[in-house]
Amino acid sequence: MIIEHLSYSYNSGTPSEALALKDVSVSVSRGEWVSIVGHTGSGKSTLAQHMNALLIPQSGLVEIDGVQVTPKAKGLRELRRKVGLVFQYPEQQFFAETARDEIAFAPANWGASGEELEQCVDYAVSSVGLEPDLLGANPFSLSGGQQRRVAMASVIAMKPDYLVLDEPTAGLDAPGINELIRLLKKLRSEGLAVIQVTHDLQSALDHSDRLLVLENGMSVAGGAPEEIAQYLLENPVRGLVMPPLVQFAAGLRERGITLDLTSDIGTIIKKIEERRPCAGIAGERQDTCSF
Ligand SMILES: Nc1ncnc2c1ncn2[C@@H]1O[C@H](COP(=O)(O)OP(=O)(O)OP(=O)(O)O)[C@@H](O)[C@H]1O
Ligand SMILES: [Mg+2]
Repeated sequence: MIIEHLSYSYNSGTPSEALALKDVSVSVSRGEWVSIVGHTGSGKSTLAQHMNALLIPQSGLVEIDGVQVTPKAKGLRELRRKVGLVFQYPEQQFFAETARDEIAFAPANWGASGEELEQCVDYAVSSVGLEPDLLGANPFSLSGGQQRRVAMASVIAMKPDYLVLDEPTAGLDAPGINELIRLLKKLRSEGLAVIQVTHDLQSALDHSDRLLVLENGMSVAGGAPEEIAQYLLENPVRGLVMPPLVQFAAGLRERGITLDLTSDIGTIIKKIEERRPCAGIAGERQDTCSF
C-alpha cells in the first residue's frame, strides 16, 4: 500500500471546511506492522479511512496492490475486502441482529455458504477469543470489549490482506489487550499487513516495525521504534505522552548508561546491574553507589 502526498478536507468548499490531512505519505507492506500515532484530532482516523477506500483522496495518491483509489476506479469493492477496517467505534459498523450474522455477512456477501461460511465464522470467532455463547446476542447489547471482538471478527472473516485497526485496544482489559497483541503478531507472521491507529505509544513502540507520527494532519516523523522514541524525546508532540519506560531509559542514558530508548524492562534491569559495581567512579563506595 502506497500513500503519497495525501491531503483531505472535510466539508471542502464550505465555510466549515476542516483540513484533516496535509501532505501525508506512508507505505505499508505485507507482513509488516505499522502504527499511526498522534494527538486527538491529528487525522489518524481520516488516514485509516483512506486505506480501505472509504474516503477517496482529494489530492495525492492512495494505491493498494497496484490499484489507484479514485472516485471511478474499478475494483474498489475488491479493495474493501482486501483491506479490512475495524472502526474506532465498533457500533458504527454494526447493522445485523446477531453477532453471528454480523460476522458472517461479509464472507456470505463474497459468495461463501454452507460449510465454508461456517469455517470462516469459526475461524474469526476463535481468532478474536469471542465466547461462542455470545454469537446469538444482539451486538448492540454487548459490552465494549465484546463489541470490539465482534467488530474485529467480522473483518477477519473476510480474510483481508491488510488489517487496519482504529484504536483497537479501547474497551479491552489488560488480558484482552495481551490477547489482541498475540493475535496481531500471529496475523503478521502469516503475511498480513497490520496497521494500528493508537494513542498507546508504549504498545506501538513495543510491537510495531515502524511508526508514523501525525501532528495537526501532517506526518512529522516516520521510522523504526527507536528512531521515533528519539525523535519524540527531542521534539515532543502535544498530546502524545512519552511512556514512563522510555523516560526512564532516557534518564539512564543521561547518566552514562548505553542502552536503547525502547529497551524492555529486563534489559534495563540488566544494564543497571552491570553498572552497580561502579568500577571507575572515583570517590564512591560500591555499596552506596547509585548509577
Ligand atoms: N465527519 C467530519 N466532519 C468534519 N470534520 C471532521 C469529521 N471527522 C473528522 N473531522 C475533523 O478532522 C480532523 C481529524 O479528525 P480525525 O477523526 O481523523 O482525528 P483522530 O486523530 O482520529 O482523532 P481521535 O484521536 O480523537 O480519534 C479533526 O480536526 C476533526 O475535527
Ligand atoms: Mg480517530
